[in-house]
Amino acid sequence: MNLFNKFIYLSALALICTFFTPPAWAKDCIQKRNTPQAPDNIYKQSNPLEATVENISIGKKLYQKEAKPLACYQCHGTTGNGEGMMARGMTPRPRDFSCQTMMKALPDGQLFWVIKNGSAGTGMMGFKTLNDKQIWQMVSYIRQFAK
Ligand code: HEC
Repeated sequence: MNLFNKFIYLSALALICTFFTPPAWAKDCIQKRNTPQAPDNIYKQSNPLEATVENISIGKKLYQKEAKPLACYQCHGTTGNGEGMMARGMTPRPRDFSCQTMMKALPDGQLFWVIKNGSAGTGMMGFKTLNDKQIWQMVSYIRQFAK
């Protein structure tokens, strides 16, 4: 093989390798879920509130600051990626709301039900201090992370 052919051969090889290595953004973000499913009638319910600027901003305030006993960002992260400060060492991991593929598969009613009741045996507590409207406002806000 002369030098030129070797060059062509190696370039082609490099091209093929680049092509078959998935880029970082294509990494699978879907988390394993053992989370109990909401009862049918709630599971199928879609958010009764419109995603208005007002509803989203109230949801944001609760998520980032006011929800008691613990604001959501502590576990789910300020950007919703599930990597909040308190998430360290937590199994299962807090849900990654920025994962489009996974969030598309989770209906509004499921999110609502888990926020209200928690997910037994995990770090996700139920938020009995919030009324239904506030929970739906948070569902509107959480949906923004995967957009
Ligand atoms: C102490 C940590 C912690 C806090 C605080 C917390 N979460 Fe979670 N959350 C988790 C964990 C862990 C899971 C995963 C549970 C599972 O896999 O069943 C989860 C799961 C969820 C889910 C996914 C439900 C599903 O069916 O997949 C939603 C929605 C959610 N949390 C919303 C919230 C909201 C909204 C708040 C604030 C009001 C909040 N969380 C606060 C730890 C937390």
